[in-house]
Amino acid sequence: RTDIIRIPVVVHVLFNDDADNISREQIDSQIDALNRDFRARNADRVDIPDAFKMFAVDTLIEFGLAKRDPEHLETSGITRTWTSKTEFPYDPFDNNATAQLDSLIKHDEFGKAAWPRDRYLNIWVCKIEGGLLGYAQFPGGPAATDGVVINNTAFGSGGTALAPFDLGRTAVHEVGHFLDLLHIWGDDNGGCLGSDNISDTPNQAGPNSGSSITNESFPLISCNNGPNGDMFMNYMDYVNDDTMVMFSAGQLERMNAALAGPRKALSE
Ligand code: ARG
Ligand code: ZN
Ligand code: CA
Repeated sequence: RTDIIRIPVVVHVLFNDDADNISREQIDSQIDALNRDFRARNADRVDIPDAFKMFAVDTLIEFGLAKRDPEHLETSGITRTWTSKTEFPYDPFDNNATAQLDSLIKHDEFGKAAWPRDRYLNIWVCKIEGGLLGYAQFPGGPAATDGVVINNTAFGSGGTALAPFDLGRTAVHEVGHFLDLLHIWGDDNGGCLGSDNISDTPNQAGPNSGSSITNESFPLISCNNGPNGDMFMNYMDYVNDDTMVMFSAGQLERMNAALAGPRKALSE
């Protein structure tokens, strides 16, 4: 693909406390971060180790707040909804609880229903219990819950965003999932059998966390993936925002397949 794909975004802000009714500036900073990283304009790409530089790509995917709502009326691309919930529960070990959380956030009773997924990337921003940064729905799931959910402490920069997750990269990671990317370690948490089904990301044991300034530094070997080791500076690992700086060509191929397949309507 050589043409740029522009994805219209609607940001659904859910708040109980007025402090969580985040500012337009904070929302703009998140949209800017998505464009910066998906277009490989992030200044911190200089941190990509030389051995991995050749794999880093400009995805030619851009994002913008929607200009028309589902009824074709003018919109800011932002909805703001007061909720009686001070935060939304999340229990990653209980699928049922996850489903409940989803339906609370993405339902007009406590949150805000999705705009049609063939025209919008829905991003819900709210307070999530337990410090979860965000989560996403892969292609192929139900329409009513399609999109990504981001904790407002990890959304954009400034306002309610908190270091070390205040560079907008939680949404970059979640939109990666939304476009069918798996975690770079293959979700087997320590084993060498799991795979992200991408050939240019080295087989990696488990997630890396923290920052390259503190613990993670090149090369980080696991699963006999020397000499270059884990591509821990990839958006689909679990490192801090200041350490994830690239998508690979193989990951772009997979995102392109989603945009030509189950997510095709969004790219038109
Ligand atoms: N825990 C989340 C997930 O698996 C997001 C992790 C985002 N990491 C970050 N540095 N912002 O989808
Ligand atoms: Zn993830
Ligand atoms: Ca791999």
